Amino acid sequence: MRQAGRYLPEYRATRARAGGFLEMCTNPDIACEITLQPIERFPLDAAILFSDILTIPHAMGLGLHFESGEGPRFAHPVRTSADVARLGVPDPAIDLKYVIDAVARVRRDLRGRVPLIGFAGSPWTVATYMVEGGGSKNFAAIKRMLYGAPRDLHRLLELLARATIAYLNAQIAAGAQAVMLFDTWGGALTPAQYREFSLRYMAQIVAALTRHAEGRVVPRIVFTKGGGAWLAEIAAIGCDAAGVDWTTDLAAARAAVGDRIALQGNLDPAALRAPPQVSRAAARQVLADFGSGPGHVFNLGHGVTPDVDPENVAVLVDTVRGHRVG
Ligand code: CP3
Repeated sequence: MRQAGRYLPEYRATRARAGGFLEMCTNPDIACEITLQPIERFPLDAAILFSDILTIPHAMGLGLHFESGEGPRFAHPVRTSADVARLGVPDPAIDLKYVIDAVARVRRDLRGRVPLIGFAGSPWTVATYMVEGGGSKNFAAIKRMLYGAPRDLHRLLELLARATIAYLNAQIAAGAQAVMLFDTWGGALTPAQYREFSLRYMAQIVAALTRHAEGRVVPRIVFTKGGGAWLAEIAAIGCDAAGVDWTTDLAAARAAVGDRIALQGNLDPAALRAPPQVSRAAARQVLADFGSGPGHVFNLGHGVTPDVDPENVAVLVDTVRGHRVG
């Protein structure tokens, strides 16, 4: 996660040239260039599209901007039933054309070296940004809506699920070979709320995604940060893999899902701030926790942070590539 990002000097150089984060996302040539930066630098097994989960609300007209150092902000947050009623489902071929064009360009420039992962946010996680108007620590506004006007929230989530299905299917049609749903804030819900307001909409999306493209299955990966206790339920929605953060032991995760799905994770991103031999030991521990057997996609439990030395990422990739199972 955050394979491409501020920890890479070449990313910072492109960002300075482009003028800002949103300018990079909305320019297909630049988005393509940045997607490829980590692939040129490290022997990785897949590329993930450079974009953001907030492209859908941006296309819905909420006025997205990124304050430097403060993260995303919306000029027009969604707070009332009238706000929800005004929203429509964006047409990916028109309103999100820049993303679809970026997918096609990345596939062209990858020339089959590694597969490309497309992605979107989960309806719940995207809704938190739309209702809060940006990032949040306590989710006060969306929880007020969840408890006080659950039907409004369900209408918003339903709309986002429909938008996400069209968006991901357009990414698949343009060449994405796997797709991932990022549910970064599912872990802020109670178990019952998680089922009702997050998992249910991810299940709708998974069920409606294009299953085959270019003669191959298109795997769908679901990642709920803080969702370790719900992995068996996540596996049951029909996804092919689940992301696991570092608060869940991979052996316990495997016991919860059996061999139904693959598991992706789960190095603590903070381990990359340690000296290389310590990062290496932490990566080996993740591999040992999973144990032998198929179905482990090594990943971080969340994103690479901007303060990480790229050399440490090189050490990490080398450690994982050098690992032999069994
Ligand atoms: O993983 C990848 O390499 C693909 C690219 C990607 C980005 N964002 C690039 C990005 C992906 C998959 C995302 C998803 C995303 N965006 C999530 C879900 C995953 C997660 O990280 O939890 C969320 C919650 C967002 C919303 C978002 N975008 C936030 C909260 C921020 C600010 C973060 C920060 O560190 O300031 C962004 C900006 C963002 N998205 C950056 C990148 C590389 C940093 C932009 C910059 O300032 O240059």
